[in-house]
Formats: sequence, structure tokens, C-alpha cells
Amino acid sequence: MNVLITGASAGIGRELAYLHAKQGHHLLLVGRNVEQLFETKHFVEQRGGSATVFPYDIGQILHIQALLRATEHLQIDILINNAGFGLYGEFLETDLSRELNMIDVNIRALTYLTKMFAQRMTIQGGGRIIQIASTSSFHGGPLMTVYYATKAYVLSFSEALAEELAPYNIQVTAVCPGATHTDFAATADLATSGLFKRPGIMDAPTVAQLSFTGYMQGKTLVIPGRSNAMYVFMTRFFTRRKLVQMTHQLQAPTDR
Ligand SMILES: NC(=O)c1ccc[n+]([C@@H]2O[C@H](COP(=O)([O-])OP(=O)(O)OC[C@H]3O[C@@H](n4cnc5c(N)ncnc54)[C@H](OP(=O)(O)O)[C@@H]3O)[C@@H](O)[C@H]2O)c1
Repeated sequence: MNVLITGASAGIGRELAYLHAKQGHHLLLVGRNVEQLFETKHFVEQRGGSATVFPYDIGQILHIQALLRATEHLQIDILINNAGFGLYGEFLETDLSRELNMIDVNIRALTYLTKMFAQRMTIQGGGRIIQIASTSSFHGGPLMTVYYATKAYVLSFSEALAEELAPYNIQVTAVCPGATHTDFAATADLATSGLFKRPGIMDAPTVAQLSFTGYMQGKTLVIPGRSNAMYVFMTRFFTRRKLVQMTHQLQAPTDR
């Protein structure tokens, strides 16, 4: 079985690669950091899998097209759209070019790859598409406004697609992790935010294991971890405005 993972050079994507390796799957590892991708490949092989490195920047259309060409003759059984990043700060002050690049990676690349591989999967007779969304998919998030909005797109897109693609034997799962210890916080400049200073932040291997179990069971929505699931359930009992205000407080800068 061939499994293509974007963002396989670190964090949750790398951990998912290890879990598929244990099943003996062949991994197609996509990311920009070649050294880290080869490190993932090395550990995948140690765990009984095999891997090919595809060093592409999926923020660039030409790289997406090159990736599609390079995988043209392969049957991709599972596509995991995991690559993504956030940015912390007041919207009036954050760097627009980083936000537009975030939209390109979190939304444009995910949509492009989903369409192309879904079309190939219909010819193959089926497959799985896993979209890494977030608990931030469920409401707006002041101080990370663009990131929360990108993840709302991923959830909405995936829920609708799960319904549309079911008759083609294509299982679509939206995975919604909460705050997880990876490089995400550093990349998003979250050092001053209170978000990652709370107790109970999950680690990437646990998030990956719970996600893997959920999507391999064919679930449409997977929220890894009891407290994250409780959090999403609880959002039903607050107004959308209240949720946004609470998120603003949670993400406010702190010296703690
Ligand atoms: N950590 C959290 O708290 C958290 C919570 C909810 C959801 N998530 C989501 O989980 C996913 C994985 O994040 P993570 O926490 O594992 O963060 P991470 O450790 O920073 O990993 C992000 C991965 O995305 C890849 N990536 C970023 N931009 C890329 C690009 N232009 N082209 C190709 N690959 C790119 C990175 O690879 P290269 O640098 O090698 O390109 C890296 O492998 C993301 O979608 C994130 O939004 C994370």
C-alpha cells in the first residue's frame, strides 16, 4: 500500500509515517527539508516500511505539479494532507506574505492534491484521504485569525467531500488535533502566547496514534484526546462570539 504524506519531515506527519511503516506500507514523504525527510525515511525503514523522498515546497504551484508528475504512475492508496503552519500576532501587524503563503499551503495545496488524487482514486476503485484540520476549525481565533480560518476551511471542505466521495469508495477523514508539542509553536511565533503554556498539551506520537486508529476505522471526524473531544463538544453550549472572546483571552500574550 502506498501512503503519501505532506509535511513528513517533522511533527505529526513524521509520526504518522512511522505508524504506516509498522504496517509495511510504502511511504511517499513530502516536505522542503531534505535532511529531515531522509531522517524520516531512515526511521521508516527501521520500522519495517519503505520510503521515497519527494522534496517539494507545496506552497508553490510548480512544485505541486512536479509532485503530481513524479507520482503519475503510482497508485496512491492513502493521501495525508498534513503540511501546514500558523502565525501568531495582531492581524494589523502580522506579515501578509507569510499569511498568503499559509493560505497556499493550508488551503490551496490541500485542495489541489485532494482533487487530483481523488480523481485517480476513482479510477483505482477507492482510497483514503486524511486532512489534518484542528480544534481551531470550530470557531474564529483572534491573534491567529488567518490560521483558524484556514482550518475552518479544511474541516468544512472535508466533511462535504466525505459525503460526495463515499459512493466512489473514497473515505475522507478530518483529523482535528488540539495544541500538540511539535515545531508548530516555534514556526508560528507562539512563544509569548498562553496557548502552549497550559498543562495537558499532547505529544505528537500520541496524537498520531489516536488519529491513525480513528481514520483506519473509517471515521469521518477524529478529535485526538479526551480533553480535545470534550472541548469541541463544549463549543455547542456557547455563542460563537463568546467562543471567540475566550480564545482571544487564551491566546493573549503572557509572561508566565
Ligand atoms: N502542533 C499543533 O499544536 C497542531 C494542532 C492542530 C493542528 N495542527 C496541524 O498539524 C499539521 C502538522 O503540524 P505539526 O504540528 O506537526 O507541525 P510541524 O512539526 O511544524 O510540521 C509541519 C510540517 O509541514 C511541512 N510544511 C510546512 N510548509 C510546507 C511547504 N510549503 N511544503 C511542504 N511541506 C511543508 C513541514 O516540512 P518542511 O519544513 O520540511 O517543509 C513539516 O514537515 C499542520 O497542518 C498543523 O496545522 C498542529
